[in-house]
Amino acid sequence: MTTPTIELKPSSTPLSDAEREAILASPGFGRHFTDHMVTIKWTEGRGWHDAELVPYAPLSIDPANMTLHYAQTIFEGLKAYRQPDGTVATFRPEANAARFQASARRMAMPELPSELFIEACDALIKQDRAWVPDSGEASLYLRPFMFASEVGLGVRPANEFLFIVIASPAGAYFPGGVKPVSVWLSEDYVRAVKGGTGAAKTGGNYAASLVAQAQAASHGCDQVVWLDAVEHRWIEEMGGMNLYFVYGDRIVTPELTGSLLPGITRDSLLTIARDLGYTAEEGRITTEDWKRDNENGTLTEVFACGTAAVITPVGSVKSERANWTQGDGEPGQVTMRLRKALLELQTGHSADTHGWMHPL
Ligand code: PLP
Ligand code: COI
Repeated sequence: MTTPTIELKPSSTPLSDAEREAILASPGFGRHFTDHMVTIKWTEGRGWHDAELVPYAPLSIDPANMTLHYAQTIFEGLKAYRQPDGTVATFRPEANAARFQASARRMAMPELPSELFIEACDALIKQDRAWVPDSGEASLYLRPFMFASEVGLGVRPANEFLFIVIASPAGAYFPGGVKPVSVWLSEDYVRAVKGGTGAAKTGGNYAASLVAQAQAASHGCDQVVWLDAVEHRWIEEMGGMNLYFVYGDRIVTPELTGSLLPGITRDSLLTIARDLGYTAEEGRITTEDWKRDNENGTLTEVFACGTAAVITPVGSVKSERANWTQGDGEPGQVTMRLRKALLELQTGHSADTHGWMHPL
């Protein structure tokens, strides 16, 4: 099967420079979208076809569209950063392409070739290049996604899918900036079980998380920390971020058990931390370990990491039975050093020694 080339149908009504600049001055997260999108269709027997770069526009969806009923849908999140010389580069897009394929396999969906995933992102960024912010850690967030586009109510894998990439300028994910978040240890709800869809980036995982997120908010917390589904004590991850535990100069992240998302930021930090001279490991940590090691001072910092959230310190922890301040409640030194190193790499202010940046 041949890979389709992306046909360009540019918008005749892009936003004016002044309107775009006003948005870029304070983009928020996921609130504004660029002028174009890429769409590629997949049909059983025909494969990928009709790859187009078209004006960003609403879709017309049949009420019996299978995704609306059975949620056969996956997505990715990656960022494009303005480099010091004015060019633009994305961070590890091939890792997102590979995870998109892994999510597709789990959700009985067709796998988009990696080259086409990256070409689609590149085509959109090139067309909407003016939307890539050029200040500090702001970026253009790319949201590739795919969903069943077949119409019908039979429960089976669809035979038609639509892949789309949209882009949204992104400032800070947490509007307060680098401010430690408070977390709620969820005991009533679980995110994922062994054999389930936790390692896939599929919409249902996020839908299922919302009631727990609301519960966290009702207890005054910013985010949920998910525990394992069997013993309710092993730390897994957060709603849209992985976690790291800092023991002096050793950092530990929960190992990939199959029920948490293999984060690309998480993976990158294992390497970046080692480059900076820290010991970086995957391991298993319980809620009891967290509380005890915080009290005895061996657990010095905890932070969350992800594409949207970058690196965000955890400042306090709450559950039905306990409530503690993490360290002194302030962003820790290791957390902030890793955050700086990651952002310097992404924004082209340090050498790309691992070949992670994809220039356009
Ligand atoms: N965990 C979940 C549930 C997520 O949605 C995300 C965000 O993508 C992450 C972890 C972090 O993954 P990444 O670093 O690839 O963005
Ligand atoms: C990301 O970091 O890309 C995410 O997907 C997190 C969230 C916005 C769902």
